[in-house]
Amino acid sequence: MGKIFDAYQCVGRLAKLYDAMLTNSGLPARLALKFFWGLDSTAYEKFLAQAFAGIPKNFCGRLLEVPVGTGVLSLPIYQKLTGAEIFCVDLSDKMLDVAKSRAVKMNLRDVKFLQGDVTALPFADETFDLVLSVNGFHVFPDKISAHAEVFRVLKRGGIFCGSVYVTGENRRTDFFVKNFCERYGFFSPPYDTPSTLEKFLSEKYSRVKITHVKSFAGFVCVK
Ligand SMILES: C[S@@+](CC[C@H](N)C(=O)[O-])C[C@H]1O[C@@H](n2cnc3c(N)ncnc32)[C@H](O)[C@@H]1O
Repeated sequence: MGKIFDAYQCVGRLAKLYDAMLTNSGLPARLALKFFWGLDSTAYEKFLAQAFAGIPKNFCGRLLEVPVGTGVLSLPIYQKLTGAEIFCVDLSDKMLDVAKSRAVKMNLRDVKFLQGDVTALPFADETFDLVLSVNGFHVFPDKISAHAEVFRVLKRGGIFCGSVYVTGENRRTDFFVKNFCERYGFFSPPYDTPSTLEKFLSEKYSRVKITHVKSFAGFVCVK
């Protein structure tokens, strides 16, 4: 946990680079996304769409995002969810600082930010209508506890959705994940394949829908 916290504190200090990569902005980011993740611009757009596909248009319930990171992908979506009550959690205060100042610039004054651990969420059972987790579960070391907490805070009938790295789809990506992302504390094994993810989620949720673009799976399911 300490290694992951330190790694993302560092990312928070280098947020411009991180945000460029996540938004596929600029030539270095586009080359890196293509080389390491196999994502060209078309595949990147699919990755982005599948990550947020579970949020209903005009959603107006209570939404938890964990982890929010710098909010570079999700905050633009929250601008359109004017009737929703939104809570964003992340372990790293440096990542959260970037997300908070982005929210201020975007005039998203009602979005609440909390520093916290996905395995010990500071919310009562069945608080949320939707839990969003974009690129979080391949980072969390204790995935079982993280899944249990998400399930606990989600209302019956609520939606769990987002995206996650899946192994076995691209050998170069898997090599990069093992030898760079894991080594420096950005990712934690074990990882799902699209089919093990579907099987795991189907044991807890109904209406499980898995898509994948290269090494990223999108998931939407209902408690
Ligand atoms: C790859 S980033 C994804 C963030 C964001 N969803 C995005 O796509 O930009 C992973 C994030 O997980 C956070 N994180 C790692 N372990 C965590 C934990 N146990 N609880 C909550 N957040 C955690 C890190 O601080 C980091 O901001």
